[in-house]
Amino acid sequence: MFAGVLSGVGSFMPIQGTEIAKEVDHLYGFLLVSSFISFIILIGGMIYFVFKYRRKSSNDKTAYITHNNTLEFLWSFIPFVIFMVVFAWGWFIYHKMRSAPANSFEVQVYGQKWNWTFQYKSGKVSIGELYVPAGVPVKLILTSRDVIHSFFVPAFRIKQDAVPGRYSSLWFEAPNPGVYQVFCTEYCGAAHSSMLAKVHVLPRNEFEAWLSGDPIPGAKPLSLSDQGKGLFASVGCVACHNVDSKSVKVGPSLLGIFGEKQVMSDGLTITVDEQYVRESILNPQAKIVKGFEGQRMLSYQGQLKEEQLAALVEYVKSLK
Ligand code: CUA
Repeated sequence: MFAGVLSGVGSFMPIQGTEIAKEVDHLYGFLLVSSFISFIILIGGMIYFVFKYRRKSSNDKTAYITHNNTLEFLWSFIPFVIFMVVFAWGWFIYHKMRSAPANSFEVQVYGQKWNWTFQYKSGKVSIGELYVPAGVPVKLILTSRDVIHSFFVPAFRIKQDAVPGRYSSLWFEAPNPGVYQVFCTEYCGAAHSSMLAKVHVLPRNEFEAWLSGDPIPGAKPLSLSDQGKGLFASVGCVACHNVDSKSVKVGPSLLGIFGEKQVMSDGLTITVDEQYVRESILNPQAKIVKGFEGQRMLSYQGQLKEEQLAALVEYVKSLK
């Protein structure tokens, strides 16, 4: 019966474009079946007892029952076990959903009223159409140019807010080539409902061909990290930060810091990720590396576009 209901669940859910989608549907099916069984026991039992113990004559007295330890234990403990199973199952799927593999193919995603822009490490940009390779983990790094949007791919069962002023991320791996619908699922104004995009999952070789093809013949875009390298010099980062040795100029060296742990002036240890690099450019005083309390780096708030920030982050990532 369980399997039967599960296949029934499948038929009114969107197609399953990822492994996670199947796992989410299994959990959903379990919730549906256990809720249905509880409903039958509860409502069926209620109707049965209403008839069985109805008042049959005018001097019909109810038996005086205060409590029943065994029954009370069972109706508490059995639901507790079921809820813990649901919690552990959900946590297991959520953890998997949130932990992108280290070798993921990364794409920057910008939400704005009312479209999605995708930028690849090669420097290529596409609007409203995300192209990804099949069978490869893909990590999206999202932000927004205006208000909060939310990136939702029903077939992949993944969803993540794109928030102005910070990065968020999500990942998926779609084994089957095809085209999948993207919705904005956070109300963002008049054209929210038409803020759509498509994910094109291509076989590996077709994807490589697409990625290396230039939008304008002969005008190959600079890669993101090369754009970042240029900015690093032109906006002045290079004056204070070493990138080719660990030695200190004015601020800390940026060589090999991405993904590493660093101790801050308040004693906290953080891992250098996209969000930290971004924050250090826009709000340098928020987290100061231990030993650099005296250095007052100026904020670049309002001076860099989202693409430029992404390029700088990508450049820091490439310093190994
Ligand atoms: Cu963007 Cu709703």
